[in-house]
Amino acid sequence: MILPIYVYGQPVLRQVAEDITPDYPNLKELIQDMFETMDRAEGVGLAAPQIGLPIRVVVIDLDVLSEDMPEYKGFRKTYINAHILEVTGEEVSMEEGCLSLPGIHESVKRGNKIRVKYWDEELVEHEEVVEGYLARVMQHEFDHLEGKMFIDHLSALRKQMIKGKLNAMLKGKAHCNYKVKTVRK
Ligand code: NI
Repeated sequence: MILPIYVYGQPVLRQVAEDITPDYPNLKELIQDMFETMDRAEGVGLAAPQIGLPIRVVVIDLDVLSEDMPEYKGFRKTYINAHILEVTGEEVSMEEGCLSLPGIHESVKRGNKIRVKYWDEELVEHEEVVEGYLARVMQHEFDHLEGKMFIDHLSALRKQMIKGKLNAMLKGKAHCNYKVKTVRK
């Protein structure tokens, strides 16, 4: 089932998300719905707060980029109870966008190496060191679990430049070709 994506201004996007227990109801269906919703919106990642749930569940699909980055062929993964333990490596700037911030694309500086822990969809716990593009996408998505969005990383000047677009979202205007839930809807 394709769900509406919550847009900037929705309080759930600013909440710190909670870990879930293995008996969380209908978890498999929820993950399935998150993948469908992300695919429909042509995103590479989606965090549960973006569909209105303050829980630590993220889906990532880098297979869609595998023509340019063959190392990610077939990469579609779920991260449950995800936490970043450490960010290291060289700081790299790259343009980011977010399904909850339609129409905004800005350069964000992040470390290119992270250590994370999470459960996979079989609820098996992992601890991993991740580098490169995946490390960036994970930091972006796991930020959502801390109530953060990529615009929080921008300079005061860049924030000023996008203020008009953010204010329009607060008034219920979001220009995109997928279903959204703004504060006014
Ligand atoms: Ni995002």
